[in-house]
Amino acid sequence: MKILEIQDLNVKFTTPIGEVYAVNNASFSLNANETLALVGETGCGKSVIANTIIRLLPQNAEISGNIFYKGNNLLKMSDREMEKTRQQEIAIIFQNPTLSLNPLYKIGDQISEPLLVHKKINKKEAFTKTKKLLKTMGFQNPSKFTGMYPHQLSGGMNQRVLLSISLTLNPSIIIADEPTKGLDNELVRDIIEEFKTVNKINNSSLLLITHDLSIARELSDRIIIMYSGDIVEITKTESFFKNPLHPYSKILLNSLPERGFNPPKGNSPSMVNIPKGCKFHPRCPHKKKICSEKTPPIYSIDEGDVRCYLFQ
Ligand SMILES: Nc1ncnc2c1ncn2[C@@H]1O[C@H](COP(=O)(O)OP(=O)(O)OP(=O)(O)O)[C@@H](O)[C@H]1O
Ligand SMILES: [Mg+2]
Repeated sequence: MKILEIQDLNVKFTTPIGEVYAVNNASFSLNANETLALVGETGCGKSVIANTIIRLLPQNAEISGNIFYKGNNLLKMSDREMEKTRQQEIAIIFQNPTLSLNPLYKIGDQISEPLLVHKKINKKEAFTKTKKLLKTMGFQNPSKFTGMYPHQLSGGMNQRVLLSISLTLNPSIIIADEPTKGLDNELVRDIIEEFKTVNKINNSSLLLITHDLSIARELSDRIIIMYSGDIVEITKTESFFKNPLHPYSKILLNSLPERGFNPPKGNSPSMVNIPKGCKFHPRCPHKKKICSEKTPPIYSIDEGDVRCYLFQ
């Protein structure tokens, strides 16, 4: 069952140096109980998609398309309804854990606040639930941490606190934007384990944004690959690692350490001076004449969806 359906989404920013086409004709859905990974190089539009879903984009953004959540178009909701949805239905964990937490409030208060505001329970019950959540998120002795401030915890612990906050109201969707960025390998492992726990105990769907394919492999059911504002491939994770479809996906896979660590050659195009046709064609080993002339549509084949003329 589809819980979130994004149809033909376009996001454009007007800036003093020109227009930035951050997301173009993006269509995808998130199913109930599914973990969907959104993967791509820096600047390809991953966070813009996340922030569009929860409608937290700056004034210079122009948005078109539809984002249906349980049948309601989020882009058409009133600000008040949207705020309610953001608080109770779709939780987001932003890229930087330390900036997302309030430095002046104790961890326990930050986790229990949404419960006190939105659920009719008293402080004691809220704290019991807070400690239970912290325990689930790998804090062996939760009582020790509820009275601490974010600066007293490591980056990895703060990330797990954010995860706990996102779970307090049992949201239907959790969006995690680069939850492992800047953490060392051991902490990355911890966070992966916590997400696995979340998947097990919670019935929510997860949109996991990462530039790290190995994390996507471990956690996701399906993978979306983005390149320069375009979705270029959507496939089941298992199939992606056996048989990636798009030429860019193949190159991305070869950049994994176990496949020889061959990072993609060349750079993603600048967002204000985009190549005509397929944006990947200047770097593509299979390019044909049409690739530099016309943007390829998405082709749906057995293995998945792919934006490439090789599948015409
Ligand atoms: N407020 C804005 N005004 C103008 N351009 C913006 C704005 N926000 C994002 N962009 C541009 O939109 C594009 C996509 O940005 P986005 O933050 O979604 O990338 P990303 O895929 O999340 O990258 P990263 O992996 O580094 O987080 C970039 O070119 C970025 O510069
Ligand atoms: Mg980002």
